[in-house]
Amino acid sequence: MDKFVITGGTALAGEISASGSKNSALPALAAALLTEEPVALHRIPRVRDIRTMQRLLVDIGSKVEVEGDRVRLETPRVMCPEAPYELVKTMRASSLVLGPLVARCGRARVSLPGGCAIGARPINLHIFGLEQLGARINQAHGYIEAEAPEGLRGAVVHFDRITVTGTEDLMMAAVLAKGETVLRNAAREPEVADLADLLVKMGAKIDGAGSSTIRIQGVERLRGTEHTIIPDRIEAGTFLVAGAITGGDLTVTGCNPDHVGALVSKLQQTGADVTQPDATSVRVRGGGRLRSVDMTTEEYPGFATDLQAQYMALMTQVEGIAIIVETIFENRFMHAQELARMGANIRLDGKQAIVAGPRALTGAGVIASDLRASASLVLAALVARGETVIDRVYHIDRGYERIEAKLARVGAKIRRVE
Ligand code: EPU
Repeated sequence: MDKFVITGGTALAGEISASGSKNSALPALAAALLTEEPVALHRIPRVRDIRTMQRLLVDIGSKVEVEGDRVRLETPRVMCPEAPYELVKTMRASSLVLGPLVARCGRARVSLPGGCAIGARPINLHIFGLEQLGARINQAHGYIEAEAPEGLRGAVVHFDRITVTGTEDLMMAAVLAKGETVLRNAAREPEVADLADLLVKMGAKIDGAGSSTIRIQGVERLRGTEHTIIPDRIEAGTFLVAGAITGGDLTVTGCNPDHVGALVSKLQQTGADVTQPDATSVRVRGGGRLRSVDMTTEEYPGFATDLQAQYMALMTQVEGIAIIVETIFENRFMHAQELARMGANIRLDGKQAIVAGPRALTGAGVIASDLRASASLVLAALVARGETVIDRVYHIDRGYERIEAKLARVGAKIRRVE
């Protein structure tokens, strides 16, 4: 198992580029199941979750060709409309094939995901939505079986809780349903809007993606197309925190500044200097004493839960007490204990973490527990005195493309050891 060895203490400086969004690329790959024609996707990040999704699509019957960050998919026929437990347990986003498979071939069998490091994460709302569209659902042997032999029918689906992949799954189911579907209390994340852009290029009729009400008029069939995935706002945000925490001068290029607005606002409140040199870059300068700022995670456009762990690492280094409230997942503070091993002063109280800073961190052996938790440990290690060894970096490889190479290029002392 690979480890990262990081020696802290350098201020990061220069330009660092954002890759394509993992959480946009995953539903985009699944959307290719909706047509027998070829779909070419550009700016697909080379990360492990993407490879897992590609494996799943090959098992289902897609031909998948990868060339650099371009992926071409073609599914003339669905051979096996199933997402097996072996894949779903390693990546919950596998459940994104549920909607497209029922829409394309009238049936799907998808393993229930089971527990997860950051919370229970059920898929009951995906299932509820499909039922509203007329699918018959049967649960047995740890699998959900959905059937709609006569095809799906448009309906109103009100999500009683906002779900990102649930909104995406239902949007993909509804594009081929008969009549109109209205998704209410839909997720407004940029990844949902990006998926809608792709589906519209394929011939779907969708209005309102990016707002909380999405209207979809079902069409008979979809066609092939080409699409470029949006930049990864969580990766970009992680790099912005890296610039601020190391007191550096870092410009994140190839990103969408609007998508990191909530983080930029917090960074500005801490006293970091954040500017936008051009339409696709954000520059952060973190020199000088930064102050603590409380933060509560929210759905987009609020502060992303996927940046909470990284923000916590930053709060260990600033002056004052910060209260961080996690509202999206019930168990997303696993990094707090590891940060504490490095010297951070963090108290957990239910949904809240109380972080008192600044504390001098020292390098230690730590364990990555999930994707974003690992990113927060990398950030802490960049400012810790001495050497930090992060174990189980396969978690970080799920969602960050060559993070060690990108960080090393802007001055970080980081290397991967096998
Ligand atoms: N929820 C339910 N029932 C459902 C679906 C969700 O109760 O049927 C609950 C969840 O348990 C959670 C909340 O609703 O408490 C929000 O979950 P959501 O469904 O929005 O999360 P997700 O779609 O499974 C996506 C991202 C996550 C990101 C969350 C929140 C992808 C592939 N994953 O997950 O990304 O944290 O939205 O923004 O898009 C990551 O990249 O590290 C990651 C975990």
